[in-house]
Amino acid sequence: MALPRKVASANYMSENRALFACPVCGDEMTVTEDCSVACDNRHSFDIAKQGYVNFMTHAATSMYGKDLFEARKLVIESGLYAPMHTAICDLLKQMNTNVAVLDTGCGEGSHLASIKNKFQEQSDTSFVGVGIDIAKEGIIAAGRHYTDMIWCVGDLAKSPYQQESFNAILNILSPANYTEFKRLLKPNGLVIKVVPQSGYLQELRALFFAESEKESYSNELIVERFKENFLEVEVKRITQTIEINKELVPLLMHMTPMGWHQKSDVAATNLTEITIDLDILIGKM
Ligand SMILES: C[S@@+](CC[C@H](N)C(=O)[O-])C[C@H]1O[C@@H](n2cnc3c(N)ncnc32)[C@H](O)[C@@H]1O
Ligand SMILES: [Zn+2]
Repeated sequence: MALPRKVASANYMSENRALFACPVCGDEMTVTEDCSVACDNRHSFDIAKQGYVNFMTHAATSMYGKDLFEARKLVIESGLYAPMHTAICDLLKQMNTNVAVLDTGCGEGSHLASIKNKFQEQSDTSFVGVGIDIAKEGIIAAGRHYTDMIWCVGDLAKSPYQQESFNAILNILSPANYTEFKRLLKPNGLVIKVVPQSGYLQELRALFFAESEKESYSNELIVERFKENFLEVEVKRITQTIEINKELVPLLMHMTPMGWHQKSDVAATNLTEITIDLDILIGKM
């Protein structure tokens, strides 16, 4: 019989316990028999039945809820982001080593799960995937759907990981914390940040934004900040327009917390294709 999810997660976390540091005191952590992750100073965090751990040390509100994460999961599973997953997987394979990868602001975990699957199909080296997000609803969904990964509710500003633990840090369409990224990265590691480019979801924006400044988008400032933080920076642009099913349109509308300024009826749209246009920023220290 398969182990209960919580016990299987506890075993996996225990195998990888060297990655953890207490978010309260910074000490090493172990996984206890009653399925919590704890330090010697009695700071203890329970593993939930869906297999994730909540490491939050303060209350936080999130504008990201269950519906938004369900929509993101279905959109990601539709294959819209497959070229991005392939590009990131290729970067990780080029490291030619066993990798520990942290996805910061991982949401409901589908990007990391896809990247790990691709990697394992194509490489003989091992892949330990860890996802952190401040939004509990995202991590609950990640824990429920994707096993053999470490899912943590936590704030990047107080992350529960040991310094120099990860070969790569992913930061996909999420806020960055460069001080923390540099602390967590192993020597020769990569920070891989994905930001929208001007054509990202342009068909939707044209339909649903009235003539506002949001119709056009520039990532210039974010790219500048990234470049200030790393010695070596490479930028890869991924642009692709794909055909979509009509059912995907309301989901695309739903996957952003900003909500779109609606000037058309979602159900009435005849959108048949959608563009992803992303910059992948690759930084080395
Ligand atoms: C636009 S969503 C992107 C989620 C996912 N990477 C994706 O592309 O589907 C941004 C995510 O960043 C998370 N986030 C924001 N601030 C954070 C913080 N301080 N620590 C951890 N996660 C954070 C949010 O909760 C949210 O899930
Ligand atoms: Zn502690």
